[in-house]
Amino acid sequence: MTGVNQSQSVIPTVTQRVLLIIGGGIAAYKSLDLIRRLRERGATVRVVLTRAAQEFVTPLAAGALSNERVFTDLFDLDDEREIGHIRLARDTDLIIVAPATADLLAKMATGQANDLATAVLLATDKPVLAAPAMNPRMWSHPATRRNVRQLEADGIHFIGPNVGEMAERGEAGVGRMAEALEIAQAAAHVLGGPQSAPAGPLSGRHVVITSGPTHEPIDPVRYIANRSSGKQGHAIAAAAAAAGARVTLVSGPVTLADPPGVAVIKVETAAEMLAAVQTALPADIAIFAAAVADWRVTTSANQKIKKTKGSDVPTLTLAENPDILMSVAKRGPRRPALVIGFAAETEAVVPHAQKKRKEKSADWIVANDVSPASDTFGGDWNTVHLVTAEGVTSWPPQSKDDVARRLVEQAGAWLAAHQTEI
Ligand code: C5P
Repeated sequence: MTGVNQSQSVIPTVTQRVLLIIGGGIAAYKSLDLIRRLRERGATVRVVLTRAAQEFVTPLAAGALSNERVFTDLFDLDDEREIGHIRLARDTDLIIVAPATADLLAKMATGQANDLATAVLLATDKPVLAAPAMNPRMWSHPATRRNVRQLEADGIHFIGPNVGEMAERGEAGVGRMAEALEIAQAAAHVLGGPQSAPAGPLSGRHVVITSGPTHEPIDPVRYIANRSSGKQGHAIAAAAAAAGARVTLVSGPVTLADPPGVAVIKVETAAEMLAAVQTALPADIAIFAAAVADWRVTTSANQKIKKTKGSDVPTLTLAENPDILMSVAKRGPRRPALVIGFAAETEAVVPHAQKKRKEKSADWIVANDVSPASDTFGGDWNTVHLVTAEGVTSWPPQSKDDVARRLVEQAGAWLAAHQTEI
């Protein structure tokens, strides 16, 4: 399963007023569920449907679920007298745009106001949360990337899009709208609900963390994996959130609960992890704690490979996976200020980590002994050495939670000393 979600360990409340702008995309049906989710949490929800949205959901359905009148037209005389676009834009505590189509994002980024939805978005002084949904190629198109960067700079909040299957047959990638529950939780977060980040040394900072193993499919039922539990990466995400950071955790398949107050992007493969990390950037700090599979099967079978008596065993041809840490650490202007990798070694732990730090252009490497005697994989304890350009510090054996807190503390101190801003 793949998806983005805010931690579910705290049930958020959205007791304020929400204006939900539904854009025209197949994901619009999920926005009907979102109305329900928001109302369950105590919000009053008013809905604006774009013209294109009405091809997918009806004003009747949105009105029945919201128990409010639904708005569709900019030039409705009654509306302009009773409740025009300026009042719609202001008489709310939050505006959610879901699905935020490529077209809507482009209009928002350029300040167009030629229908009710865009006029409201231009007229508002309230926080706006966008849940993009589109074909992965549209999402990765330079024009959309530009628009999203502009909107982020304008202070628009984003949730998703997730990695996954698209409505179009055979299309997969980043572009699926976040689930209704995830959007409701992000809304609570934007509104300063119970999971809003506490004040701390990383307040105002964005930290991206990878965690867990990756699964590389052989066929629909088999995969290549490793022994990573994700405990260390998840502990770092929890520690960074507790230190006040906005945290995006890109997690491979693990059996751990999502850390509180953290946006979690769930992926399976290295390719999905890379795409999710790229979507999550920019960040002040990137910490790569995932045990990414070095290889994937070149072409995984569409059907389960059958064991046929008397015939040869199948041969797996492997291809190298992208190195996520290296691709982020080596990139130019949008490189996070501090890039931290991990090195799991079974022998010559520190020399291997020093070599890795240079080869991958990481700032710091957290080297840990994963020899069978160390009990690191899956265990709760870790013995690490922090390898930086300045030298090596060996930390005494401690719990993974303590390693996480200490690493976050040192990263925060480094950022403060270097006064960097993204
Ligand atoms: O080369 P090695 O796998 O030992 O490097 C470990 C470090 O590189 C870890 O921080 C891991 O998360 C990261 N890595 C990665 N993408 C890969 C392989 C490793 O981000 N394909």
